[in-house]
Amino acid sequence: MDIIFATQNPHKLQEIQALLGESFKLVSLKDLDFKEDIPENQETLEGNALEKARFIFKRFKKACFADDTGLEVKALHGAPGVYSARYAGPLSDFGTEQNRSAANIRKLLSELNGKKDYSAQFRTVIAFINEEGREHLFEGIVKGTIIQDLRGQGGFGYDPVFAPEGFDLTFAEMPLSEKNKISHRARAFHNFREFLFKGNNL
Ligand code: IMP
Repeated sequence: MDIIFATQNPHKLQEIQALLGESFKLVSLKDLDFKEDIPENQETLEGNALEKARFIFKRFKKACFADDTGLEVKALHGAPGVYSARYAGPLSDFGTEQNRSAANIRKLLSELNGKKDYSAQFRTVIAFINEEGREHLFEGIVKGTIIQDLRGQGGFGYDPVFAPEGFDLTFAEMPLSEKNKISHRARAFHNFREFLFKGNNL
């Protein structure tokens, strides 16, 4: 079965194709020669994932899914959450994703300054729409702690300041293969995969 993955990010597509295995062939927006920006204007991860999937479903009328991820920090009432990528500002202010991630982390640590509770979680939501237009949501969470000094060179985004529960390492200090076993994204896609393999409602 072919499923469209509503992302413009080729790395994500590869990672998720590996997680899903060969029974489901992911079709990228590049394969479809679709270059438009996909809207992401909602205030929740669920809303954004659904908005992206609905946008693509409307165009192609084929089974498709989209994902959205955020870092939710308890002492900040769930921020940066759905705004995780643009917490410190738009990409144009920083030039590269790397610079923006560094600014996001500085802002996060400064907002947490003086707070006692550093607990946080990464949460991924996947919105899947089947051939008939029926919608399903899947979620993956990894709980952990924000640490005050950046550690590690791997990963991306907030990885250098996020230590998952039960580990002394940050995500940026873990080999990618280890991170991919326990990450929010892996857990959400595991749930999605189970659903697809059960064959229900397809
Ligand atoms: P997206 O929805 O996958 O594009 O993720 C939104 C933002 O959340 C990214 O730009 C990162 O700032 C952050 N993020 C998502 N996944 C991770 C991760 O695995 N590690 C660190 N930061 C992440």
